[in-house]
Amino acid sequence: MPLTETFSRLLRQVEALVSSSRSRDEALRSICALLEAEIPHYDWVGFYLVDPAAERELVLGPYVGAPTEHVRIPFGKGICGQAADTAAVFIVQDVSQEMNYLSCSPDVRSEIVVPILRDGEVLGELDIDSHALAPFSAQDREFLDAVCACVAAIL
Ligand code: SME
Repeated sequence: MPLTETFSRLLRQVEALVSSSRSRDEALRSICALLEAEIPHYDWVGFYLVDPAAERELVLGPYVGAPTEHVRIPFGKGICGQAADTAAVFIVQDVSQEMNYLSCSPDVRSEIVVPILRDGEVLGELDIDSHALAPFSAQDREFLDAVCACVAAIL
């Protein structure tokens, strides 16, 4: 399925940010800001990175949105930890139906987590919270997969 015009344009902007930013974190922060500003149903956009100094644990990286208490997340815990554990995209269209969920804000209704992979190994993930119920489509998934493939080059 080809990406919509908006997602194609945003993907080109993400590619430009990855190649022009001065540091990894500057690129990641700019990507968060772009996605949060341009896609109405993306209300919190952030990266979690696998901590090489810890045993199967994610640490919060650059993000845009409300501050979160979930700065470190073990593999398997919450939506983020489950996505890291399975190395697969995890879409929860209604967080009230997900028992293994770490709440950041009562405003959040849905979440998508997309792993960033290199040679099958999880390097980190892109986490997006939405205040809308069931807003994520196959297009979001395809777009965010492409964003993560692009980001893998700088992790
Ligand atoms: N809700 C996530 C925790 C991270 S926040 O959304 C920023 C989870 O269940 O893993």
